[in-house]
Amino acid sequence: LQLLSVTSEVYPLIKTGGLADVAGALPAALARQDIAVTTLMPGYPAVMQAIGEGEPVRRYENLMGGPGTLRRGRAADLDLLVLDAPYLFARDGNPYLGPDGRDWPDNPLRFAALSRVAADIAEGALGSYAPDVVQAHDWQAGLTPAYLHYNRPARRPPVVTTIHNLAFQGVFPAYLLGTLGLPAEAFSLDGLEYFGAISFLKGGILFADHVTTVSPSYAREITTAEGGMGLEGLLGGRTRYLSGILNGIDTRIWDPAHDPLIPAPFSADDLAGRAGDKAALQREFGLAASPDAFLIASVGRLTEQKGLDLLLGALPALLAEGAQFAILGSGDRALEAAFTAAAASHPGQIGCRIGYDEGLAHLLQAGADALVVPSRFEPCGLTQLCALRYGAVPIVSHVGGLADTVIDASPVALRQRVATGFQFTPSSEPMLIDALRRAAALFREDRAAWKQLQQNGLATDVSWDSAAQEYAALFRKLLTPSA
Ligand code: ADP
Ligand code: GLC
Repeated sequence: LQLLSVTSEVYPLIKTGGLADVAGALPAALARQDIAVTTLMPGYPAVMQAIGEGEPVRRYENLMGGPGTLRRGRAADLDLLVLDAPYLFARDGNPYLGPDGRDWPDNPLRFAALSRVAADIAEGALGSYAPDVVQAHDWQAGLTPAYLHYNRPARRPPVVTTIHNLAFQGVFPAYLLGTLGLPAEAFSLDGLEYFGAISFLKGGILFADHVTTVSPSYAREITTAEGGMGLEGLLGGRTRYLSGILNGIDTRIWDPAHDPLIPAPFSADDLAGRAGDKAALQREFGLAASPDAFLIASVGRLTEQKGLDLLLGALPALLAEGAQFAILGSGDRALEAAFTAAAASHPGQIGCRIGYDEGLAHLLQAGADALVVPSRFEPCGLTQLCALRYGAVPIVSHVGGLADTVIDASPVALRQRVATGFQFTPSSEPMLIDALRRAAALFREDRAAWKQLQQNGLATDVSWDSAAQEYAALFRKLLTPSA
């Protein structure tokens, strides 16, 4: 089975978030299910550099108002089709934002071009390669099934739209329809129309053969008014074609026994190395060198979604427990400034690094006693999966993929020795504080129970294997007549 995966990010070539990790790791896991993945992505400078010339397979004179070349190449162990259209993609830095931190004004053209080319490939335009199934990731690939719908081609393979985050929908002014090569009839309730504008993700949902999200709980949450972000009606009406498949992580990159990014390796049977990693982490973040201090970490985008403002409010309570706190992240300028200031006023107890740093992310997971993820919503979340695999006990809100991947240390779960972390609900400051206190108390009072939590986490399967099986079953079902 040949799958075309359409994505705007792929780790390690270009990444702003978990989508890149997923698009980068899933192909190898699907290969073990006899699914050959070709990845279509934009030719950002980093990607062009990675594939070199590539092999030109199709030329466009006019792709949303400029020329482009589709090139086949290989990089990072992936079979790639790269849309080399310098007028759209030859821009360094963040793939969506200009140097002023604002969305590039031509984003609708840039990602409509990606989707248009995906639809062409699906229709068989390349001759030498025609996918059996297409997987379109997020709003950036959302128009793929819309183009296939409005073009009515002779060849139309099934399309699966995968939603990684409903908060980003690709909503643009309706006057662009013509420029994007879509018919006027697309501006309707049963088309792309969305509150007077057009929505790429609505197109992805409406015209796909199936929609997946990245956890079963998020698949349910997005059919409700609280979680649907305006699309709950559409999604709620299509639950037969909507399912959640939980992400995994790349267990070769995240392997505490063989991780070049941490000073001391360790494993489930022998956690001793973590002490060395904790000491290194304390040094790196300017925290007091104290083996017994309860050290809590946070890694990720500093945004409202991730609930980092709740964490800011919880810092006094955390310090009152005698805990240490280390944070790595970037995003919202006000949050960056607030955590930087908190670190400055509590030297030795709070450490803060603003920026993106893979090495430090690994060190935090390996050295911290706990990882806190207080998200307001979380489609899946990858950092808590890394934490499970690295013995940093996750403290998470009970939403989306966080709810699906962590087992709360309730009295019964502790007694039965199945707990892997701490959950709280709702995502509020008091409940976060309550969970932090519960974790601090267990760490202080029952080190054996704490170690059991860590070992249960390390024993949890966070690999891509079962997700790949579920995707494979879905793709095969879509190819079965009568399904
Ligand atoms: P999201 O995609 O919503 O940002 P995820 O948890 O799914 O959240 O994925 C985030 C990914 O990016 C993880 O692999 C995480 O380790 C990584 N990451 C996020 N921020 C940083 C950072 N500042 N430095 C290093 N890695 C980061
Ligand atoms: C999104 C979500 C995150 C998820 C990631 C990968 O960025 O915010 O929860 O893990 O996509 O699917």
